[in-house]
Amino acid sequence: MSNIVIIGAQWGDEGKGKIIDILSKDADYVVRYQGGNNAGHTVVVGTDKIILHLIPSGILHKNKICVIGNGVVIDPEALISEIEYLKKRNIDVSNNLRISDKAHVIFPYHKILDKLREEKFRKIKIGTTGKGIGPCYTDKFARGGIRIGDLLNKRLFKDKLKCNVEEKNAIFSKVYKHKIYRFDKIYQQYLDFVNIIKPYICDCSVLLNEAIRKKKKILFEGAQGTLLDVDHGTYPFVTSSNSTAGGACVGSGVGPTRINKAIGIVKAYTTRVGEGPFPTEFSAPLMKKIRTIGKEFGATTGRPRRCGWFDALVVKHAVAVNGLDGIVVTKLDVLDQMPKLKICRGYKYKGKLYEHFPSDIEVLWKAKPVYEEWPGWLQDTTKTKKFSKLPVNARKYLKRLSQLVGAKVEMVSIGSERNQTLFV
Ligand code: IMP
Repeated sequence: MSNIVIIGAQWGDEGKGKIIDILSKDADYVVRYQGGNNAGHTVVVGTDKIILHLIPSGILHKNKICVIGNGVVIDPEALISEIEYLKKRNIDVSNNLRISDKAHVIFPYHKILDKLREEKFRKIKIGTTGKGIGPCYTDKFARGGIRIGDLLNKRLFKDKLKCNVEEKNAIFSKVYKHKIYRFDKIYQQYLDFVNIIKPYICDCSVLLNEAIRKKKKILFEGAQGTLLDVDHGTYPFVTSSNSTAGGACVGSGVGPTRINKAIGIVKAYTTRVGEGPFPTEFSAPLMKKIRTIGKEFGATTGRPRRCGWFDALVVKHAVAVNGLDGIVVTKLDVLDQMPKLKICRGYKYKGKLYEHFPSDIEVLWKAKPVYEEWPGWLQDTTKTKKFSKLPVNARKYLKRLSQLVGAKVEMVSIGSERNQTLFV
């Protein structure tokens, strides 16, 4: 198996950063293909906790080419500060970072629009991270967006930016009564940005297809999670990109026949940040307990994550839409002190039993989860060295999750350190 795509199989924050970091060791290229700096991948190396938002976690290993694909939306200011953040930790990106010339650029007006839309007009709040992701993708699909490559062509960039600033200023002043933007200020600022990132810009599809021809190994790193995918998630409570495995092809310029395997990262329970239905959400006391043990606070915004029981319908849906070959279960240790565990294997609404994840948002809001109960293991698992040495009840719990979602468990994570990982 050479080329693998790793995706989040729930609502994001499944612990992909750590797993991607481990799997990156065997890869030659690590590729981000969607989303932007709304993502936050945390990797613990020794005593250092590194949080990456845009640059693939593979950057923490030497000699890996890390690619930000065309499907990503880039805030150059955030990218430059991430490059600086890594430099301060003696991680030099100069030889191994590549950025697609087709990736779209986030401008200050996108970030403001993100917040204004949410505050003023949305009856239903999405709980956006406010990083300008949605408005930037809106411009991309409306064919008015500006791509990284456009910044290199001063005349083209000037024309495109003028149109955009004019249009956005009309919206700001007429619709939102908000201050308007000065074209020259943004223009100059972004010309300065592109001077810094110029050395990294490339044609990502050519780069990756050439690598495939040379039998190099590629790891595609999904951001967010399946339930936040704009097509397959809990719409409208989603992000604006395809965070599912299919997004890896469109977002990097590599065909589906060139990807050999898809792995889903799954938390041993469920979390979500932001608004939207969450059928297995805990009641307040349990929420507080798991949030504290699991340190469930967003890596990007610091917001407390909502927590709940493992929802097999969610992950079964992820197995299907991503074509998952296997799953990696993370944060099993967070459940060490739980005497009993519940697993949701269906929803009931208006007398109907749902055994597949429904797309109807009303059903998701109102459905009652159908649970089965499993005994906990009440033992510390964090120092376990082998899968077979996990407590019997922990292995039974994992076996049941695997049966219900229809995918085999390939790895289990029992702590944030690289060595707290068990291979099945
Ligand atoms: P946006 O994409 O920043 O506008 O956020 C849309 C929704 O996706 C919000 O509910 C966010 O909390 C959620 N979201 C975006 N990125 C992430 C992530 O990396 N992890 C978890 N949730 C995310």
